[in-house]
Amino acid sequence: MRSVTFDASSRRWLLRTPGTSYVVALADDDAPRCLHWGPALTAEQAASLPGPAASGASSFDSTAGEEELVSEVGARFETPSLQVVLPGGDRGIEWRHDGHDIDGGHLTLRFSDRRHPLLVELHYRVHEDSDVIERWTVLRPRVPVTVLRCDSAAWSVPALEGYRLSHVTGGWSSEHALGRTELAVGETTLTSRRGVTSHHANPWLMIDGGDAGERHGEVWSCALAWSGSWRVTLTRTPSGRASWTGGFGHEGLTWRLEPGEEWVTPVFAGVYAPDGYGEASRRWHDHIARHVLPRPDEPRPVVYNAWEAVGFDVNEANQRDLARLAARAGAELFVMDDAWFGGRTGDSAGLGDWWVNEERFPDGLSPLIDEVHRLGMRFGLWVEPEMVNPDSDLYRANPDWVLHMPGRSRTLLRNQLVLNFARPDVADWAHKWLHKLVSEHAVDFLKWDFNRAFTEAGRPGDPDQDRLWIDHVRAVYSIMDRLRADHPHLRIEACAGGGGRTDLGILARTDQVWASDNTDAHDRIAIQRGFSQVYPARAMAAWVTDSPNPLTGRAVPLRFRFHVAMAGALGLGGDLARWSEAELSEAAELVAVYKDIRPVVQFGRLWRLPYGVQYVHGDRVVVLAWHGPVAFGTPIAPLRLAGLDPDGRYRDEDTGAVHHGAVLMSRGLPPLTPNGAYASTLLRLRAC
Ligand code: DGJ
Repeated sequence: MRSVTFDASSRRWLLRTPGTSYVVALADDDAPRCLHWGPALTAEQAASLPGPAASGASSFDSTAGEEELVSEVGARFETPSLQVVLPGGDRGIEWRHDGHDIDGGHLTLRFSDRRHPLLVELHYRVHEDSDVIERWTVLRPRVPVTVLRCDSAAWSVPALEGYRLSHVTGGWSSEHALGRTELAVGETTLTSRRGVTSHHANPWLMIDGGDAGERHGEVWSCALAWSGSWRVTLTRTPSGRASWTGGFGHEGLTWRLEPGEEWVTPVFAGVYAPDGYGEASRRWHDHIARHVLPRPDEPRPVVYNAWEAVGFDVNEANQRDLARLAARAGAELFVMDDAWFGGRTGDSAGLGDWWVNEERFPDGLSPLIDEVHRLGMRFGLWVEPEMVNPDSDLYRANPDWVLHMPGRSRTLLRNQLVLNFARPDVADWAHKWLHKLVSEHAVDFLKWDFNRAFTEAGRPGDPDQDRLWIDHVRAVYSIMDRLRADHPHLRIEACAGGGGRTDLGILARTDQVWASDNTDAHDRIAIQRGFSQVYPARAMAAWVTDSPNPLTGRAVPLRFRFHVAMAGALGLGGDLARWSEAELSEAAELVAVYKDIRPVVQFGRLWRLPYGVQYVHGDRVVVLAWHGPVAFGTPIAPLRLAGLDPDGRYRDEDTGAVHHGAVLMSRGLPPLTPNGAYASTLLRLRAC
């Protein structure tokens, strides 16, 4: 079965994924319109879909509807996806279809403006092993063009009785807070103006008819592969339709394109799932594993990170001590966090001076690295390449390297400024020291941090300075790609003051992301639930830290902390020097258990349960369940499992008890009995 076909008589293209179809057609004015996004259709069924119809009922109405990219020309009053100013002041695109190309699963629809030499390409890509459809836009001007907006794609869903929007909001240490709200009639904008993906919103959404649940109901979802500022605007019309347009950059930016340039947007991908939010998530996870992550099949190591243990008080002795304890607990990768370099003894100095602090490491890093290797662990380092403290040699020598505007103050956040990576000399400097650091110190892992938003994002003298919002991110991607290519053993963790840089763009060149600086297992349950809506467990770094938690002061049992962190890529982050012998032994046992279940958690398929998660991989099933304090008498339902073979039997690998799949899914496991404030359990089942 071919994945992309064209029907010339009806001017429509049918894209097929294993379980879904997408149909795009040309209206009479050549504007590309979506006719279908949903269950699989045959070519015959697709041909029978009603054609694109003008929707305007009065002289005040839009004649557009379900457009693949909303232009400003004609009676179109929706949020534009494509806003351009052409020579003479003409705006928008008057679509003229020039042809198409089909290359396997990649469809390119080629258009040009009817009066100006501006070419616009709409790209679609489908895969044989994924239900995700990737879409992006390319502009090829032959005249100078000012771009006010160029989205990757606009998406629309069938007319539904209601529309419910799922998305996440949050802040530092409270990322990925999942909200499900009725989509308001009017426009709803999700955006970041911070130069980074952001903690406050994440560039994905799900839409359902208000009737979907974890395991039932149709869900349409989109996610943007971009790690800088972005905007997605959803529109629910008073006449009952819903659509959205999304892409990089936030409103108010303009970019000037010169003739001969190629302007390529990031991918804004979409997936349809007939069976609820859970299935939408699994489709995203499968896609990210198969087509986004650079090394999806590699088990993520158990990391020990010393940040919460020592903060900025790093020295060779305390790192050695922690490394020894981390190895004893079963860690496989030791990461030295902030403050190993320059004059960095707090957050107000030294950022940008990327040489080893000789007072803290008199013989350089080699003795520590050798010790970490001797203990059987790999070695990782924290870096924050895009930032500088004004109190640094780098800034004193290059004050013009930062984002700034001549008539504006330089706003300090966390006592630091943002280096302008859109400048090739600055990006080149960063690549050089990173390459040297990784080469000279045999660094296996970088935790790449980003701890403040953009402000005064200018470059004096640059007539097209808004481009830096895009070019900065492209430079970060390019440096990461080059480092990975030159150092095939190098693994990278994305971090932005916790989970501020989590998106499909960064996942294409990193191995995992730090989901949040909040390591309180109680809070983490909700953060991880939000994270899991789109992003897979293998990419979610999750540490067990101290109790009481240094951020929230909450005390929870070690087992509970482990059971929550085991739902992702488990790591340790506490001050192990203060853990008792009994705690260290219990931690070592639990790390060993995690290593046993790691393939199931990291490579399995996820089912979210009312108070836990379940992973299924081959013949193995892992259930992690937990809940916080509950009042006496609070009903706690049995945990009904999912995704099992109803005719199969499953042996509990710890007790030997055998359960029927049908019973586990219909009656469920006995409810967790609160034993003190925080109850948790881990169940390992194997088909028998
Ligand atoms: C923010 C990160 O999220 C933390 O884990 C830690 O690396 C600090 N930065 C270090 O400054």
